[in-house]
Amino acid sequence: MCQPFFQLTYRNLLAGPNDQKWFHSVPLPNGDRIIGAHRGDPNVQVKLWHTLAADVSQKRVLDIGANDGYYSVAALLAGAADVTAINTADCPAFPANISFIAKRWNVSPQIVVADFLTYPFDATYDVILFLGVLYHLENVFAAMRRLRKIFSPNGMLYIETQMSQIDSPLPLFEAASDKIPTIAEQNKEALAYVGVSNFLFPNEACMRNLAHSYDFTCERLEGIYTRDYSSRGVFKLKPGPSATEGGRPVLAWRS
Ligand SMILES: C[S@@+](CC[C@H](N)C(=O)[O-])C[C@H]1O[C@@H](n2cnc3c(N)ncnc32)[C@H](O)[C@@H]1O
Repeated sequence: MCQPFFQLTYRNLLAGPNDQKWFHSVPLPNGDRIIGAHRGDPNVQVKLWHTLAADVSQKRVLDIGANDGYYSVAALLAGAADVTAINTADCPAFPANISFIAKRWNVSPQIVVADFLTYPFDATYDVILFLGVLYHLENVFAAMRRLRKIFSPNGMLYIETQMSQIDSPLPLFEAASDKIPTIAEQNKEALAYVGVSNFLFPNEACMRNLAHSYDFTCERLEGIYTRDYSSRGVFKLKPGPSATEGGRPVLAWRS
């Protein structure tokens, strides 16, 4: 792997080297690190990357909700054939920040400013990174359906999400609220924007059920990230056998 991008150590911490606010804490080739929003832990993104342990080599990768682009650049440096980074226009530093770090690391993600739910993708993807996005969506089910459609037959979908802490064998979504102390706030003032407020936090049974509904198999991943952020969940989904009726798939994902 290309170092020092994937190292936990760094030289100096820099605040906004391009006069933008940063969400991701991103390594620079000289060993410095841009400070992101998680001021107490500049390694939060690299920890998640190591926990994903995604094999992206020679793969076509889609990074949904790419934000400052840590994971898009990581995928290219780890050998992805190509990476598309998509984010809605409500993220003020997109695509300025991803363009800044891509140039520094001499890589070229395809950058798309759009909503992944409506963007007319002309390709399918071998690896889809869907990190920190699920609970920002008003319609989780439409999102899962879209993800299944833009997925190549042997693809891998990585989902990272805030989890409900309700431990139940029942598949449950906990609604985000500003009135009731739920696991995270709703941020009601931002409801008019796409992908800013919080909506629904799944428990583990809910994630497994969502995967099953859209013909995915589901594996929960554990690692340095989930050890340090225990209320977050990381899942690897793969296409599973489609439910059939009379020999035909019940749900035709490519139509
Ligand atoms: C919490 S941030 C996560 C950023 C990054 N993926 C990570 O895990 O660090 C969620 C990002 O998803 C973007 N987003 C939310 N809904 C989206 C949608 N429907 N299409 C594209 N981007 C979306 C937001 O603008 C934001 O940049």
